Amino acid sequence: MDAHKQREMLERLRAHLEHKTTDLSAYALKVPAEHYVSDDQLALEVDALFKQRPVLVALTPHIPNEGDYLTHEVIDTSLLLVRDSSGEARAYINACRHRGARIAEGKGSKASFSCPFHAWNWGLDGRIIARPNSHDGFAQTDARFDQLLELPCYETAGLIFVLLKGDDIEAKVNELMGSSLSDIANFDIANTQYIDSRVTELDCNYKFFLDGFAETYHIAPLHKNTISPYYYSNATLVERMAEVVHLVSPRKTIDKEFEKPLAEQGLVLPYCTTEYLLAPNAMLTHQVDHIQFWRVYPVGGAHRCRIELNVFWPKPMDEEAERKAHLNVDLVWDVTTQEDFPQSVAIHRNLASGDVPELVFGRNEPALIYYHQNIAKAIGSDQLIPITELKDENS
Ligand code: FES
Ligand SMILES: [Fe+2]
Repeated sequence: MDAHKQREMLERLRAHLEHKTTDLSAYALKVPAEHYVSDDQLALEVDALFKQRPVLVALTPHIPNEGDYLTHEVIDTSLLLVRDSSGEARAYINACRHRGARIAEGKGSKASFSCPFHAWNWGLDGRIIARPNSHDGFAQTDARFDQLLELPCYETAGLIFVLLKGDDIEAKVNELMGSSLSDIANFDIANTQYIDSRVTELDCNYKFFLDGFAETYHIAPLHKNTISPYYYSNATLVERMAEVVHLVSPRKTIDKEFEKPLAEQGLVLPYCTTEYLLAPNAMLTHQVDHIQFWRVYPVGGAHRCRIELNVFWPKPMDEEAERKAHLNVDLVWDVTTQEDFPQSVAIHRNLASGDVPELVFGRNEPALIYYHQNIAKAIGSDQLIPITELKDENS
């Protein structure tokens, strides 16, 4: 986010805090339980949103240098992301071309990959280097077995996207991200350092994950003993940028900016949680001074998901920054796993029971409305119903 935009947002936040208001959508939205609990709908979402669209699979500082690699599962596809010798991020299917074994696990740095099964050796460019002790057993096999299977991969603004089906990844990323790319470029993600990650699985639909982050309305009641004292909950800026939903939520420290002489005011980022929601499953958060990168994937159907948090910190880091960064990973993870995620699981059970036919997002939860509408549009669903009529009595 550039300086001009920050100043503009600061003015909008000042007005919201003075008048006790928040950004509103034009209507509330009724969402049927099916939107979360239907395996048929999930199959449509997987194809339209996870396979036919670029998926944000990593950040540049996951694999900053030549030979750095990261494995990552996208639905049922096992990816091996590698920084090659020309500095390009490449995305291979993590499967040896001999008999399909995974050639890498986790994260690290290597000059080449040796398959654990029969030790075929693969280069960073995905080419076969050697087939040790094979007695020329593969001399007749054709060239396709000399190269790892590769997917379109595109890196921009510190973000690494992969496309599982189709091509034109660069055009598709630009279409999805719109002006959010130049906003995000200002965070200089490439110059941050990977700190740590956490992962868990939950018994709920994957879409509940972003539901728990895309509004500040719940902060005062649900997080009253943890993060609530630090936030102005319910004064949030929300904007749509192509398929991205952008939220800016002020922390109470923003008062420090308002106390400066008017001419010196203009910063928003150090006092806010700034989130970019990318349907269906990614959230990039600039939190005061660092980056949190969240992903969620469905696991085996509509009723289970895997959530992953990765934290990145600006460089250079000293001992104190390292300590603070690691502490932060634990704090964020504790609050979300102990307070947010149990709500997601409980809500999913209520919807899956059939007892609760629908839920509703209010006009004061615009990011949720936009996020779910983006998903519905992508699968051609008309199940989400805008509520435009006011009730007789106000409530
Ligand atoms: S499966 Fe990789 S070397 Fe055999
Ligand atoms: Fe929360």
